[in-house]
Amino acid sequence: MVNISADNCIKCKKCENVCPVEGIDIENNSISENCIKCYHCGATCPRKAVGNKNIIGNTSQNNIQPYDFELLMQQRRSHRIFSTQQVSPEVLKEFVEHMRFSPTASNLQSLSFTIITNKAKLKEINDLTIETISKAYKSVNRFSKPLIRFFKGKKALKKMEKSKRKFMEKAELREDMICYNAPALIVIHSESNPVGMPCHDAGIWTGMATLYAELLNLSTCINGFIVNAAKRNSKIKETMHIPANKEIYSTILIGYPKLKFENRVDRKIPKVRFIAE
Ligand SMILES: Cc1cc2nc3c(=O)[nH]c(=O)nc-3n(C[C@H](O)[C@H](O)[C@H](O)COP(=O)(O)O)c2cc1C
Repeated sequence: MVNISADNCIKCKKCENVCPVEGIDIENNSISENCIKCYHCGATCPRKAVGNKNIIGNTSQNNIQPYDFELLMQQRRSHRIFSTQQVSPEVLKEFVEHMRFSPTASNLQSLSFTIITNKAKLKEINDLTIETISKAYKSVNRFSKPLIRFFKGKKALKKMEKSKRKFMEKAELREDMICYNAPALIVIHSESNPVGMPCHDAGIWTGMATLYAELLNLSTCINGFIVNAAKRNSKIKETMHIPANKEIYSTILIGYPKLKFENRVDRKIPKVRFIAE
């Protein structure tokens, strides 16, 4: 529970104003049971009088310039060729621990992480994913196509056929097409919690993690196929020792890079619309 130190408090009420659940009453020295323990109060208090047990330092050390961050985003790429060098369990554990500042809806912090480095397991996940996705794609056949066209439209069917062809062709060419022989896979999961937004939490975590990895000279590749396959085939969660009542929301392959991307390449300028009046 958040603590208020009456001795240090100067009743500036910055904490009251910043609290996202209007949960602080400084006059009565009380914190509401709606508190989500985000410690906005501690982060804003000039006297460290509120939530001080959770304060780990001040915020004045941020010298990152906007251009540094733009470069970082532009230089991050998905790696599909990894060095054979292993990433130590300590580095991986520390990586996930440092990533705990990634925001979560209502500050629920409900994500769990399973890190797989066992080669045989990674191969099993790779093969099960190919098998599961291939099976799903095979259900797009001459019997189901008219139904797909009727219910989802011609364009959607065309897209499905194209992804099927691409997947099947790649599976023929690269038997490691899912895990790319990466030395480690981070699986981000959580109970399907109707109150929170674990899917978004995991997505945000994943995006931030790919950037943080770059700074540690680690390379990543987000993998959506495993997430998709795990929804269809319970064996995948079993292989990962993830209980059936948990849902996998994201996975990231991580390792040291084998190749260096020399150039930064551009992306489409996004369409932006203002509604100002
Ligand atoms: C949600 C999501 C799922 C992805 N799933 C896969 C995947 O299963 N396999 C893969 O090789 N790349 C996957 N990627 C990587 C994208 O293909 C890649 O981000 C995109 O082509 C842009 O390239 P870049 O990451 O190098 O900028 C995924 C990316 C995202 C954001």
